[in-house]
Amino acid sequence: MTEPGQPGQPGELGGVDRREVSPEQTAAANRRWWDGAAPGYQQEHGRFLGDADFVWGPEGLREADAHLLGDVAGRRVLEIGAGAAQCARWLQDHGAQVVGLDISAGQLVQGQRIDAARAEAGHGGPAVPLLQADATDLPLADGSVDLACSAYGGVPFVADSARVMREVARVLRPGGRWVFSVTHPIRWALPDDPGQHGLTITSSYFDRTPYVEVDGRGEVSYAEHHRTLGDRVREISAAGLVLIDLVEPEWPPGNSQVWGGWSSLRGGLIPGTAIFSCVRPRAD
Ligand SMILES: C[S@@+](CC[C@H](N)C(=O)[O-])C[C@H]1O[C@@H](n2cnc3c(N)ncnc32)[C@H](O)[C@@H]1O
Repeated sequence: MTEPGQPGQPGELGGVDRREVSPEQTAAANRRWWDGAAPGYQQEHGRFLGDADFVWGPEGLREADAHLLGDVAGRRVLEIGAGAAQCARWLQDHGAQVVGLDISAGQLVQGQRIDAARAEAGHGGPAVPLLQADATDLPLADGSVDLACSAYGGVPFVADSARVMREVARVLRPGGRWVFSVTHPIRWALPDDPGQHGLTITSSYFDRTPYVEVDGRGEVSYAEHHRTLGDRVREISAAGLVLIDLVEPEWPPGNSQVWGGWSSLRGGLIPGTAIFSCVRPRAD
């Protein structure tokens, strides 16, 4: 969940573009971007996310209500693109053995800040174990987790999301579940604008050319990579996973917050989030 090119973010924005950008450039740029953006992101969205809550996206769908991961108590869970690990903390509070993984040390430091504040306030369990790594190269053993999840973390921000699917399939045990949310692919065709302007198609849904921001020196400072719905399904299948559900949360009455291009105006008309629920099949 981000708002590319908005004020208050790190570095000078030299411009936005649609152009090819390599996996390496993407990872380096996004790591730097999230390192710089982390304090402001948490300040702006921390209240909505909660310190120890599991929110799947700007619509406010909570895992406590959606139960997309099933019973998490006693499960080994990997959260990918954990940010300040709010979801991981909720999972831990519900009895899971969790690791929160993120490419950005800046985001993980925000997670440590929340844990320290909770400890000082006398509530909350142990600090959430955190791991700095890239979602395309998971430093975990084969079959070592029961569940993997991601709320807008990593998947939209990597050049090779098919590789993320393969990595998750590798680290999941047979029968394990992988649930991840991303910006709904339909949003790619529309401007990232919460108002009326955001309801007019301005580019092709089928154009996979990445969205790129460059800094004042013309260097790539941020990148997002689009996949159509069909692309995502094919990447999941090609990794040997089975898609069991695709959840498109509706914008609930009473949610008046504006988060980048997400708003009640657009949310009442088109989906803003797609949540893919997958399993690694058992061998038999
Ligand atoms: C929109 S935030 C979501 C974080 C958290 N789930 C939340 O809802 O606040 C996206 C997160 O993905 C992380 N990320 C971006 N690229 C990544 C990558 N290649 N591997 C792992 N994490 C990545 C960012 O650092 C950031 O913390």
